[in-house]
Amino acid sequence: MDSIDGLKRTHNCSSLTEASLDQEVVLMGWVLRRRDHGGLIFVDLRDKRGVTQVVFAPEVDAKTHEKAHGLRSEYVIAVKGKVRRRPEGMENPKITTGMIEVAAHELRILNTSKTPPFPLDEDVEPSEALRLKYRYMDLRRPGMMGNIIFRHKVAQAMRQYLNGHDFTEVETPMLTRSTPEGARDYLVPSRLNPGCFYALPQSPQLYKQILMVAGLERYYQIVRCFRDEDLRADRQPEFSQLDMELSFIDEEDIIVLVEGLISHVFSETLGIKLKTPFPRLTYMEAMERFGTDRPDTRFGLELRDITNIAAKSGVSVFERAVASGGVVKAINAKGMAGLSRKELDDLTEFAKGLGAKGLAWVKIKEDGSWQSPIAKFFSEDERQAIETRLGAAAGDILFFGADQKAVAYKVLGELRLELARQKGLLPKGVFNFTWVTDFPLLEYDKDQGRFVAVHHPFTAPKPEDIGLLESDPGSIRSRAYDLVLNGVEIGGGSIRIHQYPVQQRIFKALSITEDEARDKFGFLLEALLFGAPPHGGLAFGLDRLVMLMAGRETIRDVIAFPKTQKAQCLLTQAPAEVSVTQLAELYLKPGWNLDKQGG
Ligand code: AMO
Ligand code: AMP
Repeated sequence: MDSIDGLKRTHNCSSLTEASLDQEVVLMGWVLRRRDHGGLIFVDLRDKRGVTQVVFAPEVDAKTHEKAHGLRSEYVIAVKGKVRRRPEGMENPKITTGMIEVAAHELRILNTSKTPPFPLDEDVEPSEALRLKYRYMDLRRPGMMGNIIFRHKVAQAMRQYLNGHDFTEVETPMLTRSTPEGARDYLVPSRLNPGCFYALPQSPQLYKQILMVAGLERYYQIVRCFRDEDLRADRQPEFSQLDMELSFIDEEDIIVLVEGLISHVFSETLGIKLKTPFPRLTYMEAMERFGTDRPDTRFGLELRDITNIAAKSGVSVFERAVASGGVVKAINAKGMAGLSRKELDDLTEFAKGLGAKGLAWVKIKEDGSWQSPIAKFFSEDERQAIETRLGAAAGDILFFGADQKAVAYKVLGELRLELARQKGLLPKGVFNFTWVTDFPLLEYDKDQGRFVAVHHPFTAPKPEDIGLLESDPGSIRSRAYDLVLNGVEIGGGSIRIHQYPVQQRIFKALSITEDEARDKFGFLLEALLFGAPPHGGLAFGLDRLVMLMAGRETIRDVIAFPKTQKAQCLLTQAPAEVSVTQLAELYLKPGWNLDKQGG
């Protein structure tokens, strides 16, 4: 193996162009590909920045050419050579270095490599298990390397903007007490305090409010959060937030600041100028029009309510749903009347999988007549009324969902997305932001037999609704807001309660006893008694935002070392069993562990 002695890298693998012709340069990197061509050996040399073609020719240096025969994929090398123009017909205009090549007269092999577990060329997609096990190889792929560098740029742009707006970045503890964000905690046993546990933070929520009481006025942090919940493509057990909190502000101030922040980040990193202000929807509007509080507004297919028309239609499934307090919602799938019987059956199964009892449909034929299993039940007036409400015309197909509100919204909301996926209505490179406001403060949890906070228990109610706290808690609106991008919730926050008596009333509505409140968040409650300023904030899911900006389908692609659906790290094999001695030091009983080992 050679050493780097005396050799200095002069350029990276994306920096050489025709402007560098005839210069002597030194490059270092990995062998992406080696090709032998009639006496010439070509190596595509890759580093963090890009790829440069290196050519080894016997007439340039016979010994170096001979040595290059031994190169294999992913060997680490240093080459010294002269920049020259590629022969005509050999140019590659797709890359910045595509007009030149480096004719090498010195080659040093700095390290060899085993055969890679998968080829690193972008067009071959290895299995995710293999990618995660050999993450260092996966990250060598230019696309993945690009994601990690892009993520860094997004974080830099965020810091730059907030630093320019009088924010202070503060680190908050990782070994802490439980923060209620609705997930299970990851617990860490304390060796020095037998039987006691820290919780890893689900978010820095309580600390950032305490920082406001301390008078910091504007805080932010790019921070890891931990939530032990079931994982999906856009969820990880540890993920990053851009977390913010501000004093002496209201919702409007936060919304304007965040729009400025997001616009700055998009223009700095993607060169995209976003249009502000972002559209806003109340929670009710979002539910009624899109069936979800995370509306994807890149396409239409909105839900309409036809409950009053369907109630007396003679379609027994509709009538029954309405009679038992449900609704009938409909979607006009414009121009999609060409869906086949098989496609409709599949969509019906899809709806049933989401809890629907069925999926009624009506095709509007060219002559304006209805083709549908339920057509015969509707009078001419009812048909007219439905067509008018849905803006229906020839070539459209209408879908109906009759059920309790929650089911009908969910089914048609998901059906809307499914139709958009099938018909290619989800364009890449389009960024539709929507604020969702006026969330309910509390919702009734049947299993627990009590109201629970929709956001978290420190979210302030709308002042005009607070009178309903004791009489009709479910109808109170909160001062919470979410930011949704293309149907993904990328951020959420609220104005907080800063007055102790209000917080007490909310705890009461949540059936949290005074003892419980003191035990769990006594420190926050006490702090509210020492001059807490009005404050509020928001947290972005950094991984989700970067995923969408980078056009990726999963947040695992923008996290250097993500975990699997089972919360395992395939690279390090975490989590792992620990020794009985370690357990004993932590005062943990090794019982189940020994059983498992048959001990
Ligand atoms: P919330 O719980 O809504 O709010 O979280 C804020 C944002 O974090 C992202 N997120 C996740 N990303 C990846 N994996 C997960 N498991 C995960 N869970 C959440 C989402 C979400 O919008 N303390 C409050 C914020 C506040 O009120 O200021 C909070 O944590 O994009
Ligand atoms: P049925 O009367 O059960 O044969 O249903 C007639 C049509 O209505 C079929 O296309 C069913 O898929 C559909 N359907 C049944 N229940 C519902 C419902 N709750 N909402 C919407 N469509 C339904």
